[in-house]
Amino acid sequence: MNMHADFSPVETQEPAILIDQVNKQFGAVTAIENLSFHVNRGEIVSFLGRTGAGKSTALNLIMGNMSPTSGRVRVMGMDPNKDFRKLRRTISVGFQTDRLLPWRTAIENVELGLQILHYHKAEIREKAREWLARVNLADAADLYPHELSGGMRQRVSLARALAIDPEILLLDECFSQLDHVTSQTLRSDVSAVIREYRKTCLFITHRIDDAIEMADRILVLGAPARLLLEVSPTPEDRTDHDKFQLLHDKIADALGVDS
Ligand SMILES: Nc1ncnc2c1ncn2[C@@H]1O[C@H](COP(=O)(O)OP(=O)(O)O)[C@@H](O)[C@H]1O
Ligand SMILES: [Mg+2]
Repeated sequence: MNMHADFSPVETQEPAILIDQVNKQFGAVTAIENLSFHVNRGEIVSFLGRTGAGKSTALNLIMGNMSPTSGRVRVMGMDPNKDFRKLRRTISVGFQTDRLLPWRTAIENVELGLQILHYHKAEIREKAREWLARVNLADAADLYPHELSGGMRQRVSLARALAIDPEILLLDECFSQLDHVTSQTLRSDVSAVIREYRKTCLFITHRIDDAIEMADRILVLGAPARLLLEVSPTPEDRTDHDKFQLLHDKIADALGVDS
């Protein structure tokens, strides 16, 4: 008899995210064309493509907001469009804008996801404090969004996404609206946290530098979304200026943009 009945629905050996021969049409518009890829558990994968390449559509499929026209989408072995209730603790999303509630303080914003998932009151405050500290905002807990800089607001938003302890973090152009320095610091802080807590992360961006700096693996997409190139940056690619530039140019070439 199995004494350890598996009451967690997400303990399977499947990749965290599987996209298998997926097509997505919106009327006459093809947003995704025969796209296949997977994201392993604990991996940070960047989804890199121009605006309109179908990146957000792929994210919507993974979140279960829509189903593909054809092909298979699996998250931890489940169909996110059907099993979305089982997956609600599994996936968190960070968006381009911070989507904070203006009438809630920083800590109250972080508490939101925990409240929706019905954590105990004391635990909610404690976890929210912990996560604010992890994104270096311990001192800003009682400030309102309008009292925070853009970078700080995005930090609050990411603390909120991480506080529910999701297996998978989806980031859709999260850093794209921040200035270069703010964006770079935040990306390096967030990737450190993601790696420390062994989260799986699909990081959507149209910026080549962001992808190289953050990802274990970069999927370069054409429009409609299909795979043009897949590269795995090495640590040297990030630290050695010439190697960085070489990889950057290779990706820009595949994308068909001037570097
Ligand atoms: N709900 C929708 N209805 C109709 N067309 C859509 C919808 N969502 C996206 N599209 C179209 O699909 C294509 C891909 O869009 P999107 O996934 O938002 O690209 P990206 O995030 O890479 O910029 C675009 O041509 C867009 O206009
Ligand atoms: Mg988008």
